[in-house]
Amino acid sequence: MRPNTAMPTDHPTSSSMEASSTSVFDDIESQVRSYCRNWPATFTTASGSTIQAEDGRSYLDFFAGAGALNYGHNHPVLLDALVDYLRSGGIVHALDMHTAPKREFLTTFRDRILRPRDLDYKVMFPGPTGTNSVESALKLARKVTGRQHILSFTNAFHGMTLGALSVTGNSMKRNGAGLPLTNSSKIPYDDYFSGATEDFLWLERVLGDSGSGVDKPAAIIVESVQGEGGLSAARPEWLRALSELCRAHGILLILDDVQAGCGRTGEFFSFEESGIVPDIVCLSKSISGFGLSMALTLIRPELDQWEPGEHNGTFRGQNTSFVTATAALNQFWADDEFAAGVRARAAELHAGLAQIASGYDGAVVKGRGFLTGIKFAEPSAASKIAAAAYERGLLVETSGPEDEVLKTMPALTISSDELVSGIDIIAAASAEVLGAPVYRGEGSDVRGSDVLDGDPRGEESK
Ligand SMILES: Cc1ncc(COP(=O)(O)O)c(C=O)c1O
Repeated sequence: MRPNTAMPTDHPTSSSMEASSTSVFDDIESQVRSYCRNWPATFTTASGSTIQAEDGRSYLDFFAGAGALNYGHNHPVLLDALVDYLRSGGIVHALDMHTAPKREFLTTFRDRILRPRDLDYKVMFPGPTGTNSVESALKLARKVTGRQHILSFTNAFHGMTLGALSVTGNSMKRNGAGLPLTNSSKIPYDDYFSGATEDFLWLERVLGDSGSGVDKPAAIIVESVQGEGGLSAARPEWLRALSELCRAHGILLILDDVQAGCGRTGEFFSFEESGIVPDIVCLSKSISGFGLSMALTLIRPELDQWEPGEHNGTFRGQNTSFVTATAALNQFWADDEFAAGVRARAAELHAGLAQIASGYDGAVVKGRGFLTGIKFAEPSAASKIAAAAYERGLLVETSGPEDEVLKTMPALTISSDELVSGIDIIAAASAEVLGAPVYRGEGSDVRGSDVLDGDPRGEESK
């Protein structure tokens, strides 16, 4: 473009004026943008659990890139590995060709994650995001079984592409599809009927009744903790019963660990506590460790029946992601020390949230590990508290069909001091929105008291 010679040289150009404003986002970025509406700062740098904004403000991060930053922002060990690799002239993009970083990642993932857990999975690179992993899992389940139907759970969230949306619960997101979402049905998640109905009663009956008119599904897809759907957490015994039901009826079990995996619940896979071995596992978000895009689909070897190239995509071989993923596995998963620390700090987080919840009638702690929050009696309270927390310098989001749960998801590397600061901000924001807490005396209204004894599992998650 030719310079505008009519413009006085000391007059700020439109681009220099825009450099410090948010007008360009309003002008040309699509209406679909969302997080920036609640957190309108323009962010510049970040380290660990702290993010800096252009206006000089600093924010404590209880959001962690929606679970993509389990090891915090710019972890120095991962950053060094990445910068060294880039400076060495290492290949960045390679589709699914052989590369040294991919070899190292697969070797490390096998040796640090799969073998110590006695897990035998083939590793598929389905595309860069969680929804790519879910799509590949659904396709493979249909191909292997020759059946079309997939069952998923009330309030599930599995991604935004059409297959993943078809197994997602949220009506606003589903309506965005613009066409009927078929070949899937919803069944009740753990405790959907608050204990009034026996688990899997309906499913057991209809699957065993050739006159029920219910076709046998190819697969059931489940999250151990419903990260977007309101932080309900499945009990280990419920997951075991689900796994047994799938085995008994020849239905594949897909465990979507996109959000709850990579250590978020205090173990690498969120299903480890239950002892189940899913047929297919979806992983993404924090698998690269650095916020770089990457996803895996783990497949029981006998189910790996793809034709070469039957599922592919341009961005499945980001070597920068392999490099940081390998560094993260070596740094944090060589032994149980890191996971034990996560479990200890998760107990502190649950205790802090339980203390806040105990001051408000009807408030309960939900979730598991570092994927936890508070559901207040008034559904609109969580969004207001998140907004008040932002004003006080904390990034914390909401979850659930009505955004009724205040959702905390700090980096797993957060310090105890930072954790306490964040909990204090949530307490102050809650008091600002709901009024001063009222404690009703010993034992009467303290929820999640089990977690105060060190069990990082909230009351509603049983
Ligand atoms: C459980 C679960 N599955 C799938 C996805 C989709 O992942 P992505 O946003 O990377 O497509 C998400 C995203 O939040 C998720 O929480």
